[in-house]
Amino acid sequence: MNKISQVDQIMAVMETAFDPQWGEAWNRRQVEDALLLPNTFAILNTSDSQDETATGFLITRHAPGEEELLLIAVDPNYRRQGTAKKMLSQLKVDARTRGASHIFLEMRENNPAKVLYLRAGFEPIGRRRAYYLLSDGNRMDAITYGLSI
Ligand SMILES: CC(C)(COP(=O)(O)OP(=O)(O)OC[C@H]1O[C@@H](n2cnc3c(N)ncnc32)[C@H](O)[C@@H]1OP(=O)(O)O)[C@@H](O)C(=O)NCCC(=O)NCCS
Repeated sequence: MNKISQVDQIMAVMETAFDPQWGEAWNRRQVEDALLLPNTFAILNTSDSQDETATGFLITRHAPGEEELLLIAVDPNYRRQGTAKKMLSQLKVDARTRGASHIFLEMRENNPAKVLYLRAGFEPIGRRRAYYLLSDGNRMDAITYGLSI
């Protein structure tokens, strides 16, 4: 599927999935610019219904030998049904196919997604102090996670 044709569905999930207090959602321009790059990919999950509503997505970037998970989100109406877990499993397959031996990601320190990543086999490997600038002007550390695939 053409990556840019996925942008409408990605944005539909983006608009529901992120709590504005963290300022983590990307705007349409950021998604389009990312997906125009040849080394950046999306995985989209759709519901079983006839209209194939988008329920979740992830965006990932490949570099020689490694993959960086840039963003993952699931519509709140479809959470805790294994959608993110499924997309991470697909990412492992796709990343290996592209020649990656590791997947990395960065996460705001207090994000409950930590449990998702730990259960998927990721391990915390670093901390970047005051990495995120929050919408209220405060800063928060980022934890870097890595997974050998
Ligand atoms: C994080 C997120 C992607 C998880 O999506 P999801 O489809 O609900 O996750 P899954 O159903 O695949 O969860 C798999 C396992 O991860 C863990 N998990 C997922 N979300 C969790 C949460 N909020 N709190 C604690 N554990 C969680 C659980 O162990 C879960 O298994 P269980 O439901 O059997 O207990 C979703 O909550 C989301 O979109 N959050 C907002 C965006 C965000 O913060 N993204 C991550 C940073 S970019």
